[in-house]
Amino acid sequence: MISYNEKERIFKLDTPNTSYLIGIVDEENFIGHIYYGKRLRDTEAAFLMRTGEPPYVPSKNNRERCSFYDCFPFEYPTGGMGDYRESCLTIRTADGHTGSMLSYVSHEIFDGKPELNGLPATFGTEQECNTLRIICEDKYAGMQVELLFSVFHDTDVITRSVKITNIGQKHFYLTKVYSACIDMDNNDFDMISLHGSWARERYIQRKTLGYGIQNVSSFRGQSGHQDHPFLALVDKNTTQEHGEIYAMNFVYSGNFCAQAEVSQFGFVRMSMGIHPENFCWKLESGESFQAPEVVMVYTDKGFDAMTAAFHKLYKKHLIRSVYKNKKRPILINNWEATYFDFNTEKLLSIAKEASQLGIEMLVMDDGWFGKRNSDTCGLGDWVVNEEKLNGGLKYLVDEVNKLGMKFGIWFEPEMISPDSDLYRAHPDWAIAIPGRPSTEARQQYVLDLSRKEVVDYIYEMVASVLRSANIEYVKWDMNRQLSNIGSICLPADRQGELYHRYVLAVYEMQRRLTEEFPNLLLENCSGGGARFDPGMLYFSPQIWCSDDTDAIERLAIQEGTSLIYPLSTMGAHVSDCPNHVLGRTTPFETRGIVALAGTFGYELDVTKIAQKEKDMIPKQVALYHQFNDLIREGDYYRIASYQKNHLFDCWQVVSEDKMEALVTFVQVLSRPNYKSKRILLKGLAEDKQYKVCFVNDETIESKVYSGDTLMKAGLLIPGLFGDFQARLIQLVAEA
Ligand code: GLA
Repeated sequence: MISYNEKERIFKLDTPNTSYLIGIVDEENFIGHIYYGKRLRDTEAAFLMRTGEPPYVPSKNNRERCSFYDCFPFEYPTGGMGDYRESCLTIRTADGHTGSMLSYVSHEIFDGKPELNGLPATFGTEQECNTLRIICEDKYAGMQVELLFSVFHDTDVITRSVKITNIGQKHFYLTKVYSACIDMDNNDFDMISLHGSWARERYIQRKTLGYGIQNVSSFRGQSGHQDHPFLALVDKNTTQEHGEIYAMNFVYSGNFCAQAEVSQFGFVRMSMGIHPENFCWKLESGESFQAPEVVMVYTDKGFDAMTAAFHKLYKKHLIRSVYKNKKRPILINNWEATYFDFNTEKLLSIAKEASQLGIEMLVMDDGWFGKRNSDTCGLGDWVVNEEKLNGGLKYLVDEVNKLGMKFGIWFEPEMISPDSDLYRAHPDWAIAIPGRPSTEARQQYVLDLSRKEVVDYIYEMVASVLRSANIEYVKWDMNRQLSNIGSICLPADRQGELYHRYVLAVYEMQRRLTEEFPNLLLENCSGGGARFDPGMLYFSPQIWCSDDTDAIERLAIQEGTSLIYPLSTMGAHVSDCPNHVLGRTTPFETRGIVALAGTFGYELDVTKIAQKEKDMIPKQVALYHQFNDLIREGDYYRIASYQKNHLFDCWQVVSEDKMEALVTFVQVLSRPNYKSKRILLKGLAEDKQYKVCFVNDETIESKVYSGDTLMKAGLLIPGLFGDFQARLIQLVAEA
């Protein structure tokens, strides 16, 4: 619900449990942030704007204008006029000037939510959400700024985005455009972010917020392994179940900055948007720039509630794929099984064995095209290598289909190898600074997707492979980050547009792909999980979490990922041991139980693994079929974190009607005299009786306990013998 109190000049945005208040003050119509927090009954809150407090007098006394600007809680702060905190918007006019200041002009409130031109964004029907559009202007710069806020009626989420239009006669340059900002009075926060590296994505970091600017960011051309487009400010005492959280997540897959600044007065400015480094966008008279969307969540009920809000929004209002609420086929991917060393016979031998074990799809990974027998060459040559795939692609796919399996394929469409026919024909198609040697990563360059002919060519190559056979799944990879930013087609004063144009082109290609092949199951991937973000989720219902498939490392990676993203989106496979990244050996059963918390599949040579492991696959397949609806659609709760206790991990999913739940417990390290562990379950109905069954441990008798007891007093997980042991516990409510 969004309302406007005309007398007080206050907008009130309500979600089921939160309110967000924006006020217009003074004859200059500044737009200020008043409040974001627990839901309020009314809008009488203009007195909180501090406009009358000396020395912060706004316009009546021009003498202290700077002081006013420097502490006023601007809803969308601009730079260069006296607010010395970091702004959200900076421009450079045709004359080279940089200051700007916005005033309210008009607004409209309407049902539903508009699409954002060229960008992924959350969506909802007129019954599910409504939107406030505030138009403001800087008449000196000839700039109109549109602030868009949407609230969803079924979840505690507010989305924001910004559109800038040149309404003047001369061009100007946008040198920074963030998408969201919240100015708050308090500053006693911890800051939560997700950091990582290749094979170690999205580890949770918590640290004290101090004075000055603290940020997480990427200017790698993608969201990245290293930092994540997410930031939360949380009360010092916030836990899983209690405490305040202000969170922001960016629906974007390129450079970002997520930032908190504590000012001299102890006020906090929290902001998020496209990273300004190397960003400069020229707006001619009449042109607009649409900045991507930020999703904001406030809760006073701890991380479980924050996670629930993000999960609900993304499951219902972000992912577009026909697969979003469906069970995905259990796949077997040949990457860790064969790397580049495969041919039709090898793939068919894996498929034959896999189909008998209940695996439902074969995915042919890197190495099937051009002369790609190693990662040194071939990217861009999307033509089947018939020396490897003797008989051709269609023959292979048909044979796999005859086994009752689907077929999927790997592409890395955004890349070009220096050693490729494509590069030899079009060396200028790679992003590069003319005259300067280019930097290789994994011996490859990035294609200049700001050029339409490049996008059209690559799209056509990919699509014609997909048209040539019954291919039902694509793994879309991106194995390096951007550097040497330059396009020979952009004029000098538009080179700063390349990063963003690149991201828009990736979105455009994925939009075309999913429109031409609406039933395709698309899985995004980037050297593991370097582009696991809401922008990519809009196009693909699942994303490969990490190249680290070790079950124990995955506990942390999946914990961090599931802090924001639904379990149904996390690509997770059982792989061979010793693990190829770590050399660690874990029980096959544990690998299966950990992978069940994601999309589930295999990444090993099923013709070579030990018989006793092979025998376990049909059981794991059965568990997937038994529990995937619950895991995919249920409410997720974090019970314990191995990252914190260094001994064990535990999570739970509960069906919406609370009739069924599944608890996963993984003991990482065994200890002498290890006693049973008491864990408190969550999300059950207090007044229901649950039959508790240890699914993979026949030594424990199933018993009935009340939801009330299980949540308040707990459940005992017996002491387990050995490292890396896992237990699956099913709870079914008695009718
Ligand atoms: C990336 C992916 C892997 C695999 C390889 C192929 O690293 O994350 O799963 O597809 O590329 O080169």
